[in-house]
Amino acid sequence: MMAQKIKKPLTLCVTSGKGGVGKTSFTINFAIALSRNDSRVLVIDGDMGLANVDVLLRLSVKRDFRDILENGTDPRQALIYARPNLAVLPGSSGVPELVTLGAGQQERLGSLIKMISTDFDYVIIDTAAGIGASVLWYNQFADHNIFLLSPDPTSMTDAYALIKLLCRDYGIDHFNLVLNFVRGVREGKHTVETINRVTQRFLKLKLAHLGNIPEDTAVRRAVLDQVPFVEQTPGSKAARAIHELAQRVHTLI
Ligand SMILES: Nc1ncnc2c1ncn2[C@@H]1O[C@H](COP(=O)(O)OP(=O)(O)OP(=O)(O)O)[C@@H](O)[C@H]1O
Ligand SMILES: [Mg+2]
Repeated sequence: MMAQKIKKPLTLCVTSGKGGVGKTSFTINFAIALSRNDSRVLVIDGDMGLANVDVLLRLSVKRDFRDILENGTDPRQALIYARPNLAVLPGSSGVPELVTLGAGQQERLGSLIKMISTDFDYVIIDTAAGIGASVLWYNQFADHNIFLLSPDPTSMTDAYALIKLLCRDYGIDHFNLVLNFVRGVREGKHTVETINRVTQRFLKLKLAHLGNIPEDTAVRRAVLDQVPFVEQTPGSKAARAIHELAQRVHTLI
């Protein structure tokens, strides 16, 4: 039997619709977990209006997305190595015109990302909240998306609104789900069943459930200290859940 060819790099888009469900925390910690498994990982801060990745990793940013897209800076010069196997392309803050990407900017962004991605095994894009142009663009650009969802009903309705748009306007028919802020097996199961009932009924598709991350005070503490929780509290429930998810990344392929 021929060995399965694994695409390199594999580009994953972390998204949610609703804000504050843990996209940035997940992205950073998941990226660190993957990089420890000997993979070369690039994190792209796709939040072009309110960048956060650099804050949570305590990076000092000299050049960002704005310099790349507007001033022609070589994106390789903007990359910051946060850890030995983990590079970050910082987003930009307070730049509203970058949030709505024009067609020319989209094309340029796509070729720039492809150019810097070649040296990596995984490219993980942390998107902004909402259903703005940059969120839609990153979702259609990536090989796979990972929807972060909390058991909160508004998180489900916002995720569904984004899934519907991506399905209807971009023909995306495969969505992966990671539940965050989960307070028990039953709650997690109920959330997955609820969203799948709606997507199956109205869109005729079922989301692939990758796993859960429990609600854990270690996550909030790590954010306040600007240290990733997989490093600050490796034994915490949230950190163990991230490592399990990283072990399962091949199921996305
Ligand atoms: N599993 C968890 N347990 C407890 N707190 C969490 C968990 N996941 C995230 N948080 C907290 O939720 C807050 C929001 O997280 P984060 O910034 O990662 O969300 P986000 O989806 O990126 O937000 P935004 O949409 O604004 O970009 C943070 O303060 C973080 O500490
Ligand atoms: Mg964020």
